[in-house]
Amino acid sequence: MSLTAPADRRAGRGAHVLDPRSRAGARARPIGMITRGTTGQNRLRRCDRWIAAVYGPLLRSAAPPLVVDLGFGASHVTTLELFTRLRRVCPSVEVVGVEIDPARVAAAKPYEREGLSFTLGGFELPVGRPPLLVRAFNVLRQYEEEAAWAHWDLLRSGIHPDGVIVEGTCSEVGHRATWVALGAEGPRTLTFAARFTGFERPSDLAERLPKTLIHRNVPGERIHAFLTDWDRAWAACAPFGAFGMRQRWIKTAELLARDWPVATAPPLGGRSRWRLGELTLPWSAVAP
Ligand SMILES: C[S@@+](CC[C@H](N)C(=O)[O-])C[C@H]1O[C@@H](n2cnc3c(N)ncnc32)[C@H](O)[C@@H]1O
Repeated sequence: MSLTAPADRRAGRGAHVLDPRSRAGARARPIGMITRGTTGQNRLRRCDRWIAAVYGPLLRSAAPPLVVDLGFGASHVTTLELFTRLRRVCPSVEVVGVEIDPARVAAAKPYEREGLSFTLGGFELPVGRPPLLVRAFNVLRQYEEEAAWAHWDLLRSGIHPDGVIVEGTCSEVGHRATWVALGAEGPRTLTFAARFTGFERPSDLAERLPKTLIHRNVPGERIHAFLTDWDRAWAACAPFGAFGMRQRWIKTAELLARDWPVATAPPLGGRSRWRLGELTLPWSAVAP
């Protein structure tokens, strides 16, 4: 699934690993802090679609697979959407919404059903067994960068050995999004996703970079070089806009792939993903 050999991947910063003894027992205090609960119907659809396509086979490999939606916010709605979408590709999947605000957990409880539950907790992932997949969207964005690295490490230590964390950020209605997929071994990929009418140039997505990258979008850093080249390729492919923004996006991805290790084959890349307004590349290509 990953684009690079394990040795090529940059692991999270070990210096920030939290004390594993702090992993929760049922009565321990959840790790993290209550932040704004902003959420919205369908705002995470791009990420959910990607998870279903890219990690559907992983989910189907377990019986039954456990998925955590960490930090579901003021409403249960995006967790329910994740559950519904994943059940289509993996009927046995179980989803637990984990939230650090007890009032938000209480508000979500009435929406529990077979395979979907909500519980109080934090980065220690207080669920019955190590989850195969964790989605954490618009959660780490509200932490400091150093804390975000540390919480990546803690989350990685809590998942199934073959598991994955999808940690990302999106705009209010989900027209612009980026996310990182991390395995137990470290970060694997960075994905950009956009509605074709939702931006002027690809670097507009920089405002939604994960916390571990957003402050690195400055000259001299690889993420900045990548976004600069992407804008250049986008400008060079302007004539394809005559056939629509989708064609321009696809041609831009093809051009960019000459210089950057953009995923060009399924499940992560190629026309079938690009036509959806996605672009994925190995984390190692943009890591700070
Ligand atoms: C902005 S909302 C995101 C809601 C939803 N995931 C979305 O993207 O629409 C962030 C939520 O994460 C919760 N949160 C922050 N840190 C957390 C942690 N360590 N564990 C669980 N929830 C956390 C906050 O309390 C808040 O409700």
